Amino acid sequence: MRLDFTLNNRPYRLEAPDHWTVLDLLRDGLALTATKYGCGEGVCGTCTVLLDDEPVRACLVLAARLRGRTLLTAEGLESNGAPDHLQSAFARAGAAQCGFCTPGMLLSARALLAANPAPTEHDVREALAGNLCRCTGYTKIVEAVLAAAGPR
Ligand code: FES
Ligand code: FES
Repeated sequence: MRLDFTLNNRPYRLEAPDHWTVLDLLRDGLALTATKYGCGEGVCGTCTVLLDDEPVRACLVLAARLRGRTLLTAEGLESNGAPDHLQSAFARAGAAQCGFCTPGMLLSARALLAANPAPTEHDVREALAGNLCRCTGYTKIVEAVLAAAGPR
């Protein structure tokens, strides 16, 4: 199938197998590996990307649904090689250990802050509830998102 869509602020036109998911397209088709394959079943959230600014699980969405739409992955967060404010907040807070969950966390957090620029800790924990982390205990991740929501 032919796909036309916008990925990380750039237009793309490419051919992909009909059965591919967005995760297949990113990792196998485009070698964009920030989006991680965790469970492949919609459970872990590590494949979270933003489709038209809404968080979705890339392992569950067929690539065919990208036609005419806008996709953002963790590769698209930085600009001119500089991290965005959420990435910087994660780094300052020490919010990553192995880092496997981090791309999905960043995108879920970005969607939260776009909808709610001044979240409470409860809001942050609720927004990230679908993103599993095996390492950090979540505390520093929540601190990072709250810090990113504060004055920049
Ligand atoms: S890999 Fe998509 S939710 Fe786990
Ligand atoms: S930092 Fe390792 S899974 Fe979250």
